[in-house]
Amino acid sequence: MKIFLDTASIDEIKKANGVIPLDGVTTNPSLIMKEGKDYKETLKEITKIVDGPISAETISPDAASMAREGKDFAKIHKNIVIKVPMTPEGMKACRILTAQNIRVNTTLVFSANQALMAAKAGTFLVSPFIGRLDDIGQTGMDLIREIKTIYSNYGYRTQILAASIRHPIHVKEAALIGADICTLPYKVFEQLFQHSLTDSGIKKFLDDWDKLQKGLKK
Ligand code: E4P
Repeated sequence: MKIFLDTASIDEIKKANGVIPLDGVTTNPSLIMKEGKDYKETLKEITKIVDGPISAETISPDAASMAREGKDFAKIHKNIVIKVPMTPEGMKACRILTAQNIRVNTTLVFSANQALMAAKAGTFLVSPFIGRLDDIGQTGMDLIREIKTIYSNYGYRTQILAASIRHPIHVKEAALIGADICTLPYKVFEQLFQHSLTDSGIKKFLDDWDKLQKGLKK
């Protein structure tokens, strides 16, 4: 499974990419707002750090303006992928951009039928939002399972990007189901490396090593 970071923080991207090579990055207007920096400049900086799909989200209401915005973002770098919302206008924009060889990430996907429509519109990535479904009392991960089945039933090549990830269990389950990509907030990325038995194991080895050194000095 490919691992993307879900952030617009250059610092977080550099730190994570220093540990494992990131496969891509997803951004959205809320994440950009958090950083308070220019969107295009931030995207440009990210493309210099990570060699993989970098999602940039459109904010226009209609297909023609979404496509215009998308074309503008796509000029930044060949790795820029354009996020459009799962709406009929978004799907029209997806077709316009795809026809011009600009890859699309269909975002805000909350049902299997929406994912089916996105695949039919030719989207490169589909982003089901797991955590936001859990938040309203549904089982977000069921959606990943359904999309996986539908796409494999018909051989759609759209990649499933598990988004709105809240904790490491989401990551494990997405990997077990066979999601193509999981995009992680930095906090969850850090949690993937942690285990209390790893920490206590390191401590025990170091303590024993110290004891041995002291014994040898006697
Ligand atoms: C990624 O592409 C999405 O925008 C993001 O994962 C949404 O996450 P949230 O539900 O935590 O805002």
